[in-house]
Amino acid sequence: MDLFEYQAKQLFQRHGVPVSLGDVAATAAEAEEIAERIGGVTVVKAQVKIGGRGKAGGVKVVKTPADARTAAEAILGMDIRGHTVHRVLVDPGADIEQEFYVSYLLDRANRTFLAMASFEGGMEIERLAEERPDALAKVPVDATVGVDAAKAREIAHAAKFPDELIEPVADVLVALWETFVAEDATLVEVNPLVRVGDGSILAVDGKVSLDANAAFRHPDHAALEDKAAADPLEARAKAKDINYVKLDGEVGIIGNGAGLVMSTLDVVAYAGERHGGVRPANFLDIGGGASAEVMADGLGIILSDPAVRSVFVNVFGGITACDAVASGIVAALEMLGDAADKPIVVRLDGNNVDEGRRILAEANHPLVSLVDTMDGAAERAAELANAGA
Ligand SMILES: Nc1ncnc2c1ncn2[C@@H]1O[C@H](COP(=O)(O)OP(=O)(O)OP(=O)(O)O)[C@@H](O)[C@H]1O
Ligand SMILES: [Mg+2]
Repeated sequence: MDLFEYQAKQLFQRHGVPVSLGDVAATAAEAEEIAERIGGVTVVKAQVKIGGRGKAGGVKVVKTPADARTAAEAILGMDIRGHTVHRVLVDPGADIEQEFYVSYLLDRANRTFLAMASFEGGMEIERLAEERPDALAKVPVDATVGVDAAKAREIAHAAKFPDELIEPVADVLVALWETFVAEDATLVEVNPLVRVGDGSILAVDGKVSLDANAAFRHPDHAALEDKAAADPLEARAKAKDINYVKLDGEVGIIGNGAGLVMSTLDVVAYAGERHGGVRPANFLDIGGGASAEVMADGLGIILSDPAVRSVFVNVFGGITACDAVASGIVAALEMLGDAADKPIVVRLDGNNVDEGRRILAEANHPLVSLVDTMDGAAERAAELANAGA
């Protein structure tokens, strides 16, 4: 999960990283109030989870609360590369003398953590890495050792910080590492870290990605989620512990097991080429235990997607045998009643397939058609989706 800048800097602050941090506003009037409270020069900053806000006009330095209001009016509602600005952060203006770059990230390819740092900030980091690779230090961090004062100094030296900045920057690097570990982040980035007039070091921007696999250790992280941005169906699926992913086609897909679901996406996309170019609308993995309730929840979610014109249920019976899955489908359709209103193509195979097919045939539901092979079922689902256009 990626965080907004203000959330990232709140976490930094909690772990002792010095930040410039004011408050967030959803309206221009609120922005004015915050600027009034801070006093002096403030910076109004679009809160969107995408880089390049400054260039897009989403970061404005202002001198008065009235100007903060005007800036907020301009920035709120702005579209920054597909992200609508719903809130602005109003920060105390920092008297910046120099800009630097520091980050920690999970380096999957090298199976380690990596510190990246540069004395030459103020430039897009991707550009710096490309044009001046020598200026960007990359220092592996051993997970069992971490970043202590000595390691932090090593990183600061590698990044070519001058002698007088080694100690203050190393202090920030240690606190930033503490943030990274304590919050179970996969990325913490400060671009720019700055030196201000009085010589102190401050994070004026912040980016944090949290590891969702560690969410169980951080009950407080749930509150950081941007509920407004979440797809309502994805949220509904998540609440039921179902893996659901929205795509942009027309055929809803339910399967059991990640491998089967992935190959189902492929055969549907392939069949779709012969039927008006229809594509998968979403997919949902009901996992191993496809109880009637899970099937009902799953079908309910898939059928609530207005883009869906047909549904393909592709199940290979294993521990949960086909007859249980078939009973699940029948019970699900009963539970859903009129909410089930699109054709459903079912392909069952594996453990107890004959009994499964018998149950579906006997139920004889008008929306359900049973096809024996995966390719055949994909073809039928694509054809129905195309016909339903
Ligand atoms: N609190 C502040 N005080 C003074 N100047 C600031 C402050 N915050 C940002 N700036 C200036 O604005 C520039 C851009 O800010 P910031 O890094 O937060 O946004 P960005 O880099 O455009 O966005 P992103 O990091 O999303 O690409 C900074 O490099 C800095 O020069
Ligand atoms: Mg930045």
